[in-house]
Amino acid sequence: MLFKRSTVTTALPYANGPIHVGHLAGVYVPADIYVRYLRLKSEEVVFIGGSDEHGVPITIKARAEGLAPQDIVNRYHEIIKKSFEDFGISFDVYSRTSSEIHHKIASDFFKKLYDKGEFIEQTSEQYYDTEAGQFLADRYITGECPHCGNKQAYGDQCEACGTSLNPTDLINPKSAISGSEPVMKETKHWYLPLDKYEAWLREWILDTHKEWKTNVYGQCKSWLDMGLQPRAVSRDLDWGVPVPLPNAEGKVLYVWFDAPIGYISNTVELCQNQPEKFGNWEKWWKDEETRLIHFIGKDNIVFHCIVFPSMLQAEGTYILPDNVPANEFLNLEGDKISTSRNRAVWLHEYLEEMPDKQDVLRYVLTANAPETKDNDFTWKDFQLRNNSELVAIYGNFVNRTLVLTQKYFDGKVPELQSLKENDSEVLNEITNQKSKIENLIDTFHFRDALREAMNLARTGNKYLADTEPWKLAKTDMARVGTILNVALQLCANLSIAFEPFLPFSSEKLRKMINLMFTGENSDSKQLAWADFGRSNLLETGRQLGTPELLFEKIEDEVIDFQINKLAKTKAANATVAQVAKPVKEMVTFEDFQKLDIRVGTVVECTKAPKTDKLLQFKIDDGMGGRTILSGIAAYYPEPEKLAGAQVCFIANFAPRKLRGINSEGMLLSAETTDGKLILMQIKEEIQNGSAVV
Ligand code: MF3
Ligand code: ZN
Repeated sequence: MLFKRSTVTTALPYANGPIHVGHLAGVYVPADIYVRYLRLKSEEVVFIGGSDEHGVPITIKARAEGLAPQDIVNRYHEIIKKSFEDFGISFDVYSRTSSEIHHKIASDFFKKLYDKGEFIEQTSEQYYDTEAGQFLADRYITGECPHCGNKQAYGDQCEACGTSLNPTDLINPKSAISGSEPVMKETKHWYLPLDKYEAWLREWILDTHKEWKTNVYGQCKSWLDMGLQPRAVSRDLDWGVPVPLPNAEGKVLYVWFDAPIGYISNTVELCQNQPEKFGNWEKWWKDEETRLIHFIGKDNIVFHCIVFPSMLQAEGTYILPDNVPANEFLNLEGDKISTSRNRAVWLHEYLEEMPDKQDVLRYVLTANAPETKDNDFTWKDFQLRNNSELVAIYGNFVNRTLVLTQKYFDGKVPELQSLKENDSEVLNEITNQKSKIENLIDTFHFRDALREAMNLARTGNKYLADTEPWKLAKTDMARVGTILNVALQLCANLSIAFEPFLPFSSEKLRKMINLMFTGENSDSKQLAWADFGRSNLLETGRQLGTPELLFEKIEDEVIDFQINKLAKTKAANATVAQVAKPVKEMVTFEDFQKLDIRVGTVVECTKAPKTDKLLQFKIDDGMGGRTILSGIAAYYPEPEKLAGAQVCFIANFAPRKLRGINSEGMLLSAETTDGKLILMQIKEEIQNGSAVV
C-alpha cells in the first residue's frame, strides 16, 4: 500500500511527573528522528504529542499534596512541554487531555459507540467508602497482604512482595480517603466487548501485520491466545471526562479510553489553529491513504494494538495503525527507573545542568536504544560515547577539515581537480551510506541507522589519515585543495545524514560551513534529504564560517556529579521509603528444626535454558553433589563468576521440576528492602555438607 501522508503519535505521558531518559529513549527520541527524516524527505506528516492528565495516580498525587488534580497536571504539563521543546522534540502540537476540546471529542466518541450499541452494561460489586461517599479505585484501598502480611498493601498490588492483588484479597481493607472500612456496593459500568473483536484482531494483526517488531507481534499474539474479555471503559471517580449519559453521576471515562482519543483531539486542535498548514483534521485520521504510526513503550502495547484499534473499529470511520514500533525499557545504572522513587535522570534537570548538550543525550539514547531488549543507561557510557565517538570521530573529522581549509585556503572552499581513487571512494561511500541509513530508518532501526551515519564520519577520518594533506602542503597545493574539497563535501553531507538524529549539531555545522538552508537565504531552498549524496553541496570559492568545536570533551567531574546525585536519591530512598517487611507469625524451635540447612560450594553456575529468571547451580554438597535452580538471574548478569562461592541451601526441600530441570533444594538469598535478591555467601571456608544449626 502506498501512503500519501503519515500521522505519527507518541504515547501521551502522565502529567504526574516530569520526563526522564526512559521516556526519551523508548518513545520520543525515535519518534522525533522518524518525523524529522520524513520532513527532510518533504513528506506530508503531522507529529502529535500531549499530556495524559486523567487517571488515578494523578488524583493520588493531588491528595498527597493537598492540591486539586488540575493543579498537579498544570504543573507537570508545563514542565514536560517546555523540556520537550528545549530538547528539540519537534511536535506539531503538544496539548493535553484536560482541555475542553478533548473532553468534547472523547465524550462524543463514547456517545457514538453507546448509540451504536457497541457497549455492554454490567453491574458489579465494588468497594465503597460510606464516609467519603464514593467508590474506591483499587489504589485507594489498603490492607494486609494475604501473601506476606504487609499491612500497607494496595488493592491492586502489594509493593512489599510484588504480588498483584484484587481489592477483595486484602485482609482488613481500609479506605485511603477516610480510613474507614469500605463496604461492597453495586455499581454499573460500560464495557467494550473485546471478545467480539478477537477474530478480527487475529486476522488484522497476526496475518496482515507480520512485519511488526517481534516484541510487539509476540505480545499481541499472547494476548490473543489467552482470549480477550470485555473491558470496562468507565470508572467511579471524580476526575476525568464525565460519562455523557443521564444517571451517570460520579462516573468518568476510564483513562485508557479517553487518552488515546487525545491523539485525535490534539490533531483537531492543531488543524483548527493552523488550517492553512495542516488542512482538515479528518484527512489525518480518516483517509485510507494516511499511515498511522504509534510510538510507545512496551507497557502500552496492548492498549495501542488491541484496545484502541477495537475502539476505532467499533466507531467505524477511522483508519487503524499501520505500525506500532514499541520499544523495551531503559534502566539506569543497573536498576529500574522510577518516578515515584525519584530514581531517574530528569530531562528538565539535564537541560539545566548541561545546556547545549541536547545532542549528546540524543546520541547516547539512540546508540543505546532499547529497541529489542531492555538496555542500561550509565553515565560512564554517556561520557565514553561523547568522548570517543562524537568528539573523537565526527567532531574531529569536521574540525580537522575546517582548520586545514582555514590554514591553507583562508577558509575558502578550494577547487576540486582530478580525482584519485581514494577520492572517488569517499564520494561513493556517501551514497552507499545514504541508502543504508534510509533502509534502516524506514524500518525503525534507528540505532543501526545512527551507527551507519557515524561510519560515514569514520570514513572521513580515515580519508584524511590516508591522504595526509598536511604533508602534501609542502609540495602539492592543488592536491591538498582537492582533498579538502572532498572532505568539505563530506562535512556538508554529514550535516544532512545526522540531521534527524542530532539537529542542533547539524545546524551548528552548517553555520560553520556557511551552508544555510532556510528557504529565504542564499541557497533559497529548504535543506532536503535529496541533497544527501551530492558531491557539489559547497561550490568552489565559498567563504566558510569560523571553525568551532562541534562537540566538547566531557570531564570526569561532570560525570561524577551525576553519579553522586543518583547515589544521594538512593540513600534518601533507603531511609524514607524502604522499610523492613513486617515479621511473620512466630514459630517454635521444633518448626525451625524441620529445615535441614547445609553449606555447599558452587561448582558451576549458568543461566537456566529457556528462561530469563533462573540460574542453574551445580553444588558440591559434600554428599555427591546436586543441582539447584534459583530465581535470581536478574541480579547476576555474570553467573559464571559465582563459581567457588560457598552458599547455604535447604537440603531437605522437596525436589521440584522447573523448566524441565530437577531442582534439589533451595538456595538461601537475602531479599533487600528495595526488592533485590542477593545470594547469601559464607566468608569463612567451611566443609561442604556442614549443617547450619
Ligand atoms: N500515559 C500513558 C503512559 O504513560 C500512555 C498513554 S498513551 C495514550 O503509560 F494513547 F493513551 F495516550
Ligand atoms: Zn505482600
